[in-house]
Amino acid sequence: MRNFSYKYLVTLLCLTSIAPATAADGNSIMDNGGSNPAAMACVSCHGSDGKGTPESGFPRLSGLPASYIAKQLHDFQAGRRENALMQPIASALTDEEISSVANAYAAQAKVNVAAASVDRPVQGTGAWIAQRGAWDRSIPECTSCHGPSGLGVGSAFPPLAGQSAIYLAAQLQAWKVKLAVADKKRHAKKQDLAARRNDPNGLMQHIAADLTDAEISAVAEYFAGIEVSDEPVDAAKLRLR
Ligand code: HEC
Ligand code: HEC
Repeated sequence: MRNFSYKYLVTLLCLTSIAPATAADGNSIMDNGGSNPAAMACVSCHGSDGKGTPESGFPRLSGLPASYIAKQLHDFQAGRRENALMQPIASALTDEEISSVANAYAAQAKVNVAAASVDRPVQGTGAWIAQRGAWDRSIPECTSCHGPSGLGVGSAFPPLAGQSAIYLAAQLQAWKVKLAVADKKRHAKKQDLAARRNDPNGLMQHIAADLTDAEISAVAEYFAGIEVSDEPVDAAKLRLR
């Protein structure tokens, strides 16, 4: 079902692709794609405002840190992050194009949240995992790294607030060990079997591995459901506490 709709979408996008950009201009890459036609226009999936297509699981890129975006594109190229749609697109971008498009997305609006809720989270909910963690399984609260409201911290910890729930859950699942058993021989270590294995020091792999599927859905829904605001974000909020 999922594969079918992806293939359909890719065919559709190929049929409607626009003339490639000449120089590595980040905004032009978003709108028209890279110099290699396989690097399709980012806006077709990530939205004309860069805010993603949450119901399709296409993530928001607007306002993500430039070095985080560039890292992800290099990780797709190297296969440290596996995804049937993004790997061919990232592989078709030059290093120069990656840096331009990453800077162009970083210059777009960062996610901001409406006044933070001060309610004490209820144990067993997504809000509880986000704000309290599950220390019985050595899972720290997500906000300790992703910022108090999930707005992200510095350039290494991406925002989770306002991101697509489908996308967030898919990433947590991708960090769980899940490649086919037949592939096991190729991989020396257990963590090499995960579809996403690009996190520094295995920080996220350790966390995802110990979350249940129900907890993954709940915490993804929680961050996706945080009410976002169109007011510009105060940069002081994006630093470590
Ligand atoms: C055909 C749809 C499609 C197009 C076109 C597309 N993307 Fe994506 N993109 C995706 C999907 C799906 C994901 C989520 C992949 C995953 O689950 O790992 C994604 C993820 C990403 C991520 C990771 C975001 C994060 O928070 O880690 C980056 C960065 C990205 N895309 C950049 C781009 C750029 C730059 C372009 C244009 C050159 C582009 N994408 C074009 C579908 C697309
Ligand atoms: C110890 C620090 C740390 C903690 C705690 C942490 N994360 Fe992360 N998380 C990271 C880092 C670092 C990355 C970026 C990895 C990379 O470079 O791809 C990340 C990335 C993610 C992503 C991918 C975002 C994207 O745009 O692709 C998701 C989803 C995520 N974390 C969810 C969670 C959840 C849910 C929790 C709490 C259960 C959590 N994280 C707790 C460090 C942390």
